[in-house]
Amino acid sequence: VHRYDENADRLAQSIFRYALDRIRMDRPPLDGPRSPEELGAALAGAVSPGGLGGERAFALYADELAPATVSADHPRFWAFVSIAPTESASMFDLVVGASSTFAGSWMEGAGTAAAENQALRWIADLVGLPSGAGGTFVSGGTMGNLSALVAARHHWRAQARPGDRLLLAATTETHSSVRAVARVMDVDVLEVPVDERGRMTGSALATAMNGHDRVFAVVATAGTTNVGIVDDLAGIAAVCAASGAWFHVDGAYGGAGLAAPSVRHLFDGVEHADSFIVDPHKWLFAPYDCCALLYRDPRIAKAAHTQYAEYLDVYTDAGDWNPSDYAVHLSRRARGMPFWFSLVTHGTDAYRDAIESSISLARETADLIDDRDDLELCLRPELSVVMFRRLGWTLEDYSQWCARLLADQIAFVMPTSWQGETAMRFCFVHPRTTIDDVRLVLETMR
Ligand SMILES: Cc1ncc(COP(=O)(O)O)c(C=O)c1O
Repeated sequence: VHRYDENADRLAQSIFRYALDRIRMDRPPLDGPRSPEELGAALAGAVSPGGLGGERAFALYADELAPATVSADHPRFWAFVSIAPTESASMFDLVVGASSTFAGSWMEGAGTAAAENQALRWIADLVGLPSGAGGTFVSGGTMGNLSALVAARHHWRAQARPGDRLLLAATTETHSSVRAVARVMDVDVLEVPVDERGRMTGSALATAMNGHDRVFAVVATAGTTNVGIVDDLAGIAAVCAASGAWFHVDGAYGGAGLAAPSVRHLFDGVEHADSFIVDPHKWLFAPYDCCALLYRDPRIAKAAHTQYAEYLDVYTDAGDWNPSDYAVHLSRRARGMPFWFSLVTHGTDAYRDAIESSISLARETADLIDDRDDLELCLRPELSVVMFRRLGWTLEDYSQWCARLLADQIAFVMPTSWQGETAMRFCFVHPRTTIDDVRLVLETMR
């Protein structure tokens, strides 16, 4: 099993060729899901006592499984929040996978921990966090939100604040993962009403918190998933400072906008965050799975998250910076490394320009929509999400249109809703998406 012989070498060549071809594809096939029956038939007997051999196993992936997965890095994938890893980030991911680094401790993963910390520092500087800030990379925004809020609760309890049935404040536009986290943590959610653009404002938060002394944390969103709106971070920060609640900023999608001068002002107040997340696997051009999690004071997170055991004393007693101490995890891959490698390769200006390109595209798309009588913008885009309606269409019409676009391999788009009505949402994160792509798709809505 562990022998590198001629067969293994042949297989290695085909795998490398495949990976390189896939990474270099300008427009990979969109592909699409297949039924469980079809995939079950393709996979039947694959796990067998004697094994298929590498060539057949790989052909099974390339011919049957890969075409049954949508290419989320396709420049016309605008449903959900997609992904646009740079070629260098994807290629370096192969190195991370090949290196078997245990990136949980400094003792075993000092080199990667130092580089991941450098990448985190770039983000901390964009946020405006102090020099002592730090954190780690976790699998995604959900895990980042969970880890940050567990640290927040730990801090609250350490200060002997009111202890039973804690509350975290959020809005209807807060990402679904925060409600999932509240369930995992067995805390309640205090619903803060949003303004007409879907924002949490400081004044609405203050009103909602009035009479509640158990709000241990407030989750503000810097780029809502549905419409890409940034909450009133400065107003929320002031309410948190006055009440002693932890100020968590979820920038999983929109946090990348911090690097874009044209929208940086929207984030004013983010520098007061006690914790902050952004997913490089969304709009910072890294492959899955990668969420940067930062704490203003990482000592609080360390107190909340460090695992203790006889077999771990060698790490914990050494007093080193162990990435495992800052989230709900122990073993971890060095998942920040593809992001670090690409950032170091291309430089921060390239990141700024690539992010700005999606913001400009969203503005141009909004203009195209404004020019059409049959389309109506729901609200002007702030970041790179454009939400609009096709006048006269029902949910059924949107769904049929989306299904047709995927079947014809034109685009992957999905309807959503805004203020109770069905709407269309394009979320742009890919610098290779052009206004001609948008024109082509909008034409099919006539
Ligand atoms: C604002 C926000 N927070 C959290 C998440 C969850 O991130 P993940 O899917 O990486 O767990 C998302 C995902 O789209 C998001 O947009």
